[in-house]
Amino acid sequence: MKRKSFLILVIVGIATLFVVAGIFAKTVSDVIELKDPAYKEHEKGVVKFEHKKHQDDYAKKYPEFYKNGCGECHHDKDNKPLSDLKEGDDVQKCIECHKIASEAPKGKKAKKKLSKKEKIKDYHAEALHENCKGCHRKYNKKYKPTKKAPTTCVKCHPKE
Ligand code: HEC
Ligand code: HEC
Ligand code: HEC
Ligand code: HEC
Repeated sequence: MKRKSFLILVIVGIATLFVVAGIFAKTVSDVIELKDPAYKEHEKGVVKFEHKKHQDDYAKKYPEFYKNGCGECHHDKDNKPLSDLKEGDDVQKCIECHKIASEAPKGKKAKKKLSKKEKIKDYHAEALHENCKGCHRKYNKKYKPTKKAPTTCVKCHPKE
């Protein structure tokens, strides 16, 4: 009898481990704090990004902006949209490719003039801004909603 309950305990224990590991390995938080650790400090309020709303609700509501599904925001090293990404797949962070953790230098700090494309390729904040604001502009233009998708600083970066 003792042996049997011990065995059951072991089995339950192992099963629990699998479930817990599964949860940690596979779920993205519904809301992601975009506070990439590559930045020494964040000058602006930290953006709380409604990942789930964007990938589920908005994708269903506005399919015209989500022709590539997850690939609207996630792509590979050749900028090919990762359209068949699924919940549970490993996803690279934007910083792994858009490596410089800042906006592109402006004014006197800019040593040479970079095209918009070059800025986006290298600078993390430029890539994020282009991705977020790009789609928001298209949405605002098409729907002229009373509640606009944010394109101004404080709407995304809350005042601290
Ligand atoms: C509207 C843009 C957008 C859409 C659509 C989107 N994502 Fe994301 N996702 C992001 C951003 C931004 C991050 C944060 C990346 C970072 O921190 O570098 C992220 C993070 C993730 C992460 C976590 C990566 C990590 O290591 O923290 C996973 C997993 C993920 N997304 C999966 C998906 C899947 C699967 C879909 C489609 C069902 C999807 N995403 C659709 C923008 C999007
Ligand atoms: C595996 C590398 C890689 C990762 C990870 C990556 N990108 Fe990119 N991204 C690229 C490349 C390469 C380009 C094309 C650069 C060029 O114009 O030469 C690009 C271009 C872009 C562009 C320009 C618009 C376009 O599609 O032409 C945006 C915006 C962008 N990335 C945003 C993001 C965001 C947001 C994330 C994270 C959710 C991300 N990228 C993750 C490699 C990557
Ligand atoms: C593919 C299109 C698309 C991309 C990319 C996108 N958004 Fe949005 N976003 C929307 C739409 C559409 C709405 C408005 C939906 C509505 O009000 O019904 C919205 C609304 C919002 C809102 C206001 C409402 C809410 O959900 O909190 C915030 C904040 C926001 N987006 C942040 C971001 C950030 C940050 C990024 C980049 C990491 C981003 N979005 C990228 C489509 C997009
Ligand atoms: C649609 C949402 C959105 C809007 C609008 C927006 N940003 Fe951002 N911004 C982001 C996201 C997302 C990041 C990436 C933060 C991260 O992943 O660490 C970012 C990063 C930054 C960074 C680098 C990180 C930091 O805090 O130092 C700066 C600086 C910045 N933004 C300034 C601005 C300014 C100035 C404006 C207005 C002209 C603006 N942003 C408008 C979403 C937005």
